[in-house]
Amino acid sequence: MKINLSIKSRFKSYSVIIQDKGVNKSNLKPYVAYRNNVLIISDYGIPKKYINDLKKTIRLCGVSAKVLTISNGEQSKSFKNYQYILEHLAEKNFARDDLIIALGGGVVGDISGFVASTYLRGIDFIQIPTTLLAQVDSSVGGKTAINSKNGKNLFGAFYNPSLVIIDPSHLNSLAEREYKAGLAEVIKYGLIDNRKLFNYLKKNYESILDKDTKALSFIISESIKSKAKIVQQDEREKGLRAILNFGHTFGHALEAKYKYKKYLHGEAVAIGMRCAAKISLELKLITSKEFEAVLELFDKLKIKSNLPNLKLNDLMPYLKKDKKILKGKLRFVLLDGISKAKIEDMVSSKILRNIFN
Ligand SMILES: NC(=O)c1ccc[n+]([C@@H]2O[C@H](COP(=O)([O-])OP(=O)(O)OC[C@H]3O[C@@H](n4cnc5c(N)ncnc54)[C@H](O)[C@@H]3O)[C@@H](O)[C@H]2O)c1
Repeated sequence: MKINLSIKSRFKSYSVIIQDKGVNKSNLKPYVAYRNNVLIISDYGIPKKYINDLKKTIRLCGVSAKVLTISNGEQSKSFKNYQYILEHLAEKNFARDDLIIALGGGVVGDISGFVASTYLRGIDFIQIPTTLLAQVDSSVGGKTAINSKNGKNLFGAFYNPSLVIIDPSHLNSLAEREYKAGLAEVIKYGLIDNRKLFNYLKKNYESILDKDTKALSFIISESIKSKAKIVQQDEREKGLRAILNFGHTFGHALEAKYKYKKYLHGEAVAIGMRCAAKISLELKLITSKEFEAVLELFDKLKIKSNLPNLKLNDLMPYLKKDKKILKGKLRFVLLDGISKAKIEDMVSSKILRNIFN
């Protein structure tokens, strides 16, 4: 089964192909065959086989690809690596009609995209995301970035890929924790926008936990459809796109509180989504039955969503750094029923304290 989604953008429209063994000659040739140079960027955590298979496929398209591998982990999204990759492209005489292919998770995708956006003022790049988070989130939407010592993702650009190829079978080698962290983002789309996805997750949780290809293809494509729909209405994140941050206010605060060591991003977001759902319940934006349905979904997909033993004051300094803050007021993305979200700034400290009980 091959799913082909077309992502419309004011800047550059592109296709997302979701297909088992989708990294093949017929999908790649139209984007690769006429290039002189192709650079595959990957990291040391990605199985070598995926890199070798990609190289072979590019050779079948008549081009010989070079490979540049960086260390795995968030610290790789660094200025040093960014410069290193740019200089590598310059040394190898990459021209404006050459191509970068990012093969990996969000770390590889984000840094490769930022390199592509700035090398010779922009060259083409293809995303082949290999984590669930990258497949449903970071490979689509055009955000690229590296980290600064002053914060995450501070240097970057909005820059769309020319193509995204998603092979769900790549997830078979992914660590269980990473897979679940990605599933939390899938649940997010079900909660903020996509009722069909929410119902599917509830019903098909066993096939999803088993990484059944058909189930994966469905949840990945529905997640991307939701993300694309939201991003298309607000590409530069001036308003609506903020609803993609559901669960991220508390999630980011938890990640920062524990110095990015205790939780993977998706794990913190799962806890943050539960907090946001609880606030939605307190404000009567959802019923207790709907709140229970949210918790039941976390349980079915075996995703932990309990807050650690903390008080509101422990998190407040981190909550106050949220980028959604407007005129000094914290703003929360809340549920307005299931599969509908709204942004709310009228959340009292009493309600916030209640979610810690
Ligand atoms: N651009 C965006 O819109 C956007 C959105 C969300 C997150 N992000 C960024 O994404 C990054 C996180 O991405 P991530 O969660 O994919 O983490 P990651 O890229 O760090 O990958 C996690 C780990 O899994 C390994 N890995 C990747 N694919 C594998 C596979 N198929 N089999 C075995 N191991 C594999 C990697 O080597 C790494 O060790 C963060 O830097 C975050 O800021 C960007």
